[in-house]
Amino acid sequence: MSRTATRPLRRPASPIDVVPPPRPLVVTHNDALLDDLLRLAAAASVELELAGRPESARSRWSQVPLVVVGDDEADTLTAMSLPRRPGVLLIGDHDDADVWRRGVALGAEQVLFLPDDEPWLAGRFADTAEGGDGEALVVGVMGGRGGAGASVLATGLAVTASRQGMAVILADLDPLGGGLDLVLGAENITGLRWPDLADSKGRLGARALRSELPGRHGLAVLSWDRGDLLTLAPDAADVVLAAARRACDLVVLDLPRWPDPAAEYAIGLCASVLLVVPAEVRAVAAATRVAAGLTTLAADVRVVTRGPSSSGLGGPDVAMALGLPFAMHLPAEPRLGVQLDRGEPPGLDDKGPLVQGCGRLIETLLRDHRPVGA
Ligand SMILES: Nc1ncnc2c1ncn2[C@@H]1O[C@H](COP(=O)(O)OP(=O)(O)OP(=O)(O)O)[C@@H](O)[C@H]1O
Ligand SMILES: [Mg+2]
Repeated sequence: MSRTATRPLRRPASPIDVVPPPRPLVVTHNDALLDDLLRLAAAASVELELAGRPESARSRWSQVPLVVVGDDEADTLTAMSLPRRPGVLLIGDHDDADVWRRGVALGAEQVLFLPDDEPWLAGRFADTAEGGDGEALVVGVMGGRGGAGASVLATGLAVTASRQGMAVILADLDPLGGGLDLVLGAENITGLRWPDLADSKGRLGARALRSELPGRHGLAVLSWDRGDLLTLAPDAADVVLAAARRACDLVVLDLPRWPDPAAEYAIGLCASVLLVVPAEVRAVAAATRVAAGLTTLAADVRVVTRGPSSSGLGGPDVAMALGLPFAMHLPAEPRLGVQLDRGEPPGLDDKGPLVQGCGRLIETLLRDHRPVGA
């Protein structure tokens, strides 16, 4: 097979393929490397474009979602002074100490070594086929004390955002909770849960993750199951949550009050963490301790108070006592207990204070973290 032109390596597009999926560009003359890349791409159901001569890469350089450069062509490409672009990967040799210099000169985002980095690269190939490389807004919810209403608010936010048309993943980071799929009424829906993903390494395909998670009311839930307690490693949380962020517009995290290392890692991903505090004196005392730990991990913590308030404490008073910004007071949701017992998730009663409050919270969070035109 001649490998001298920029062209697809698999079947040409048929007339009904109006918009062909984006293809990574490969620049190398190393046949062994090319065979490896073709194998990885095939596993990820992705077609590659091959620029057999470096000059033929010039026209495609800025058009393709990803450029994979063999070490054999790195210096030649660098000498061509192509514009800097994200998504350039240099495949190097472990024994070659100079590969890092060549990577920097080329403007590579990463230097990869095969076969060690094959899973990561296969995932990256799969993501280019999915088209999106965006990062979802990540919002965490934590209770200021046990039973504060954090899981209800996290689910309410996720259901409300999903009903507004956003692609949402609701992820449960509290291994000691009852399983967030229960709150969503999705406990009988088959699909991946944390124990299935606890050994995740490399890079997970975003679309594959989303399609394999149990779903209800248009959103996907990543929950614990009711099996043995399992400690999630931060590395696995990183791999899974990175795929989750690429898979949707909004990731809502239900966070434990006593975060393990995986939850600590997840808190670091949050644009904001909402601290849910019942408007009661004892809850404020407990929340003070929770907030002290949380604020060392999260850049932006906002207080959501929850009714009923028998003490007469107002939401702003609670936030002021905690020394944190006040986001909103949620009046008690009528009939919530009955709904939860029936397996109906919070976030479906349009006239209830929860849906209305969640709508306003989403609006504020999007305005603060995803300003239009930014
Ligand atoms: N918005 C609300 N309106 C009325 N009651 C609520 C509301 N949110 C929570 N509750 C009540 O509090 C209970 C506990 O809520 P939830 O499970 O969300 O708390 P949590 O903070 O996640 O608790 P845990 O410490 O177990 O994780 C619910 O079963 C419900 O009875
Ligand atoms: Mg909870």
